Amino acid sequence: ARPLVIAVDGPSGSGKSSVSREVARRLGLEYLDTGAMYRAATWSVVEAGIDLADAAAVAEHVRNLDLTMATDPTAPGVRVAGHDVSAAIRETRISSIVSKVATNLDVRAEMLKRQRDLITAGRNGTHQGCVAEGRDITTVVAPDADVRLLLTASEEARLARRAKELHGSADAASVEATRDQIVRRDSDDSTVSNFEVAADGVMHLDSSALDFEQTVDAVLAAITRIV
Ligand code: C5P
Repeated sequence: ARPLVIAVDGPSGSGKSSVSREVARRLGLEYLDTGAMYRAATWSVVEAGIDLADAAAVAEHVRNLDLTMATDPTAPGVRVAGHDVSAAIRETRISSIVSKVATNLDVRAEMLKRQRDLITAGRNGTHQGCVAEGRDITTVVAPDADVRLLLTASEEARLARRAKELHGSADAASVEATRDQIVRRDSDDSTVSNFEVAADGVMHLDSSALDFEQTVDAVLAAITRIV
């Protein structure tokens, strides 16, 4: 059978990463976390001591980046020059500046190329297909995907989920500590891609009232209807 491409976009805290990963696992597909690529690029730029305001230097560094994505949904990961950075790229010091790197248009052009290569590896018979997840997958990276889905959730729901992830609790103080980070990052990111409204032909699933399992089931049901 032809390799399947499933594109999932959404804002932070929408559950797109954990849901996409589980959907890929259940369907026996690869899982590509494109946010991890931007995070790894940011980690490397910082590590190299490059001034984030120097757009040309940042872009040049990213074009030469030795980046390896592990796309097995049971063991996803990211390496820079052979060094496992999967944990380091989740640190707040990276989350708080990743939008600066990701809004560099030359960085995006480089990532677009690499993401398409990783996704279409399946079309050369290397894998069964791929669930690719990010902000611009349904619109820019893989507009021709078999299934395109925008996964959203209310700001309230997204903040509560992130607060639980980051602080182990969704009490008022944890939600407030999360708000600045998440809301500001989404607003910075939205200058380059629109992941709040589904583009033409993109399915929209609001997971505000759904738990993880229900969201996975809803996505699987939608995929079954289409392919
Ligand atoms: O999904 P995650 O929160 O890990 O993404 C980290 C950052 O990577 C986002 O805040 C955004 O700046 C950038 N990103 C992007 N395009 C994508 C995926 C992520 O610009 N397709």
